[in-house]
Amino acid sequence: MESIGIGLAGFGTVGAGVFQALQRNAELLYRRLGVRFEVRRIAMRHPAKKRAIAAPEKLITTDWSDLVNDPSIRIIVELMGGTEEPLNLFRSAIAAKKILITANKALLANHGIEIFQLAEAANVPIFYEAAVAGGIPIIKSLREAFVGNHFESIHGILNGTSNYILTRMTESNMDFHQALGEAQSHGFAEADPTLDVNGWDAAHKAIILASLAYGFWLNSVDIQVGGIENISPLDIQFARELGYTIKLLASIRSHLDEKIEVSVHPALIPQAHVLASVNGVFNAILIRGDIVGESLFYGRGAGQDPTASSVLGDLAEAAQAVAFPRASCGFKPHNLRGQVKEAHSCVSSFYLRLDVDDRPGVLAQIANILGRAQIGISSVIQPEGKDTHQTHLVLMLHNAPTGAASEAVSQIATLSCVKGKPVLLHVEHFA
Ligand code: HSE
Repeated sequence: MESIGIGLAGFGTVGAGVFQALQRNAELLYRRLGVRFEVRRIAMRHPAKKRAIAAPEKLITTDWSDLVNDPSIRIIVELMGGTEEPLNLFRSAIAAKKILITANKALLANHGIEIFQLAEAANVPIFYEAAVAGGIPIIKSLREAFVGNHFESIHGILNGTSNYILTRMTESNMDFHQALGEAQSHGFAEADPTLDVNGWDAAHKAIILASLAYGFWLNSVDIQVGGIENISPLDIQFARELGYTIKLLASIRSHLDEKIEVSVHPALIPQAHVLASVNGVFNAILIRGDIVGESLFYGRGAGQDPTASSVLGDLAEAAQAVAFPRASCGFKPHNLRGQVKEAHSCVSSFYLRLDVDDRPGVLAQIANILGRAQIGISSVIQPEGKDTHQTHLVLMLHNAPTGAASEAVSQIATLSCVKGKPVLLHVEHFA
């Protein structure tokens, strides 16, 4: 086997990056793998668009089925974005026995069950290292290196754009929109950055990690997801005073013999914790396995080159799969846990910021509602201000079920002394 035909579906930031990286390191790949990857067709939606990296005109098509129908193409790399068209491509490509590589986390999170059932039935391998955490080889690690472990927890900073925005807001007092604009100009954000900032891009990645770790495809409606759109400089500052940093954190936990917990939300994490120093576009994943203990992965989580690097790794594995049949097509269901814990019963500590009237009895009314809900207060800050009528009140709350905390805060919000919307954020101690 000297050369393997590839079809590239999608020629945006990542697709163009893969095309360029394949050219740049062609010789290295040949020496290491003994094969040459030859891009034979490139499907793109807008061929006339001006691009920094040009595709040879003779390879271009606007119809991805040209890749599926080309018998000289053995591997299709799907980097189109969206879910509907990629799903159709996957169905046709699996039927045509093409090996698939994708960076599409939304596709796998939403249609993983169908895709891997089709793949197993047709014996077609699927690789998706680039779908989670850019250049970090976390999929391979979960599937291979840690295959002998029960996973007790997986915590991750999984969205480069959100992490970049929070870092700029924390370090340079930049406002949210300015920081988002910078992330977009660096090519970190999705074409529509809504999913980056509302937590769903990280949630799709968390679904993939949890599904791999626990052996069943999670349903996205079962997990708690929150984004960073409403994180204000004020909360970043209070968190800092209290010894915490705010990060968009994905948390996956299994209590032995119990359901698993999966959430993505902005959380206060102790400044001394290793994840607190993961800044900018960097992602990190902290795994706790019953045999390996803790293991930390760190690297660029978004951007053209890191993502292309993971696709190249997948191409190398795909080249092996062309030569030798594989035991798994990319996902083996094993159902050790099989269920996700209901969001309201998941226990967490909390940060609560309220804007309140500054008059006697206010703190007592708030403490009364929390007390009735069996929620303990671990500390209180009320900055001494010039305004004698209104003040910020920040309460750190002890562990409580999320449902009970939300319910108590809804009641607090109805008090006449409370102005505006309370801010309730999770506090993660990684216990
Ligand atoms: N938009 C994603 C991020 C790219 O910012 O992390 C990688 O999935």
